[in-house]
Amino acid sequence: MFTAAAIRADSKPELYAGLATQARGLLHGERDRIANAANFAALVYHALPDINWAGFYFHDGAELVVGPFQGQPACVRIALGKGVCGTAAVTRQTQVVRDVNAFAGHIACDSASRSEIVVPLFDGMTLIGVWDVDSPRLARFDEDDRAGMELLAGIFMDSLKG
Ligand code: SME
Repeated sequence: MFTAAAIRADSKPELYAGLATQARGLLHGERDRIANAANFAALVYHALPDINWAGFYFHDGAELVVGPFQGQPACVRIALGKGVCGTAAVTRQTQVVRDVNAFAGHIACDSASRSEIVVPLFDGMTLIGVWDVDSPRLARFDEDDRAGMELLAGIFMDSLKG
């Protein structure tokens, strides 16, 4: 049984390094995408402050479909190129949105969300989906979060290969 220990950290990079170690331990030895996505979302949601949604959208071959997450119920399908998630998927770039109300085309699932970060998930050239985290705090995510979330997303992607 995995037990998430409180991570002692004086800085965001330290917090993400501790979280990365926990994520590797949690996903170790399991390749099932739904199982790992569910546990990964739960781990991150409970470890990071000021988060109101953390989860996955997976590419079904045509669009993004919501996967395992923590938080309020979310929009089910997002077209490629739409919203922050669809933009991350087509640009292949992590989207750090300081103010969701200033992002043209932002899709509001939880009206409490004020800022958002979305990391695209690719296996080589193949779009797998996106990892999406929302915050009720304006400008919650910065470059440290970008690096940390990309590190975590890489651990999730590696886990699928066993
Ligand atoms: N805000 C996202 C939609 C997903 S929810 O935040 C969970 C977007 O604009 O793509």
